[in-house]
Amino acid sequence: MAKILAIESSCDETAVAITDNGKLLSNVVATQISVHEKFGGVMPEIASRLHTENITICLEEALSESGLKLEDMDAFAVTRGPGLIGCLHVGLQAAKSLALLYQKPLIPVHHLAGHIYANAYVGQFKFPLLCLVVSGGNTELVLMKEDMDFEVIGETKDDAIGECYDKVARVLGLPYPGGLPIDLAAKRGEHTYHLPSPDAGAGKYDFSYSGLKTAVINLVNSLRMKGEEVNVDNMARSFQDVAVKMVVDKTLKAVEDYQVAQVIIAGGVSANSYLRAQMQEKLANTSTELIIPPLWCTTDNAAMIAKVAEHLYEKKIFAPLTLGVDPNWRIDNWMNFNTK
Ligand code: KG4
Repeated sequence: MAKILAIESSCDETAVAITDNGKLLSNVVATQISVHEKFGGVMPEIASRLHTENITICLEEALSESGLKLEDMDAFAVTRGPGLIGCLHVGLQAAKSLALLYQKPLIPVHHLAGHIYANAYVGQFKFPLLCLVVSGGNTELVLMKEDMDFEVIGETKDDAIGECYDKVARVLGLPYPGGLPIDLAAKRGEHTYHLPSPDAGAGKYDFSYSGLKTAVINLVNSLRMKGEEVNVDNMARSFQDVAVKMVVDKTLKAVEDYQVAQVIIAGGVSANSYLRAQMQEKLANTSTELIIPPLWCTTDNAAMIAKVAEHLYEKKIFAPLTLGVDPNWRIDNWMNFNTK
């Protein structure tokens, strides 16, 4: 293996990590949440500007923590997509400049592969493996038969589950990002509001969250128009029960159909306490193992990008310096990094 410096800047976290032979030497994350909070969501232009301000500071801090210098690196890895285009560009330009300056390989990493491989810091993968990727931008069921082999067997037909949490939190007057505030409110509440179970149509393992999101918004607005008070804790609980049930049910169906050895949950929403408890409960006393990521792995970081980069370094999968970003890069097409 090698000394790898990895950069992540796909959304609202600027992150740099350094690994040496698989050992994590530094993992620096500069989050912009407090800035975007007042807008109730990530403002792409502001996010890109903040990445340009933070990237050098994160690089310096990661190097100082690791005790290594840029010239010690064997490769520079970067998130190439999916994500916000302007944000991705900042990380890519930094990684390309370093690769050019130090004449070392440039490794293009898929952001969701990173979220999946974050789990490799806490458990050993066993194949076939099923990964439920739940974040602010994605809701996918990914089947892996071996390392770096990703088959998307189900995905959201509209909104991502995290986006749905954030919008529901907004209508309930809870802070951004809405996942944790809803998670906490739901613990205090009871399931008293009737909400429709989402229907993702024909796709056996597909998801749909826009109907549920609209149902909550409409119900809250109509109660308020009638002058009735909305019980935030009960609404959070009623919403969370339905939202989590959908991902849990589809995951369990796929576990049975594909007879997987292991299930992994990944992405920002995998921090959800009810989702974690449900997955643990449903997979207890089965032959399928569950990896639950520690909280530090659930948010965006560059340690997860370095973990994927280690595999690509071994296989000598490097990108030319003409590499461009791809905001819509699919995980099942990660080998195809054209130069647009
Ligand atoms: O993976 P992530 O950090 O960013 C993306 O790449 O999208 O995920 C962020 C999402 C946000 O929508 C946030 O509300 C959600 O993860 N989230 C949670 C929890 N913590 C964060 N959703 C539900 N429950 C949580 N405890």
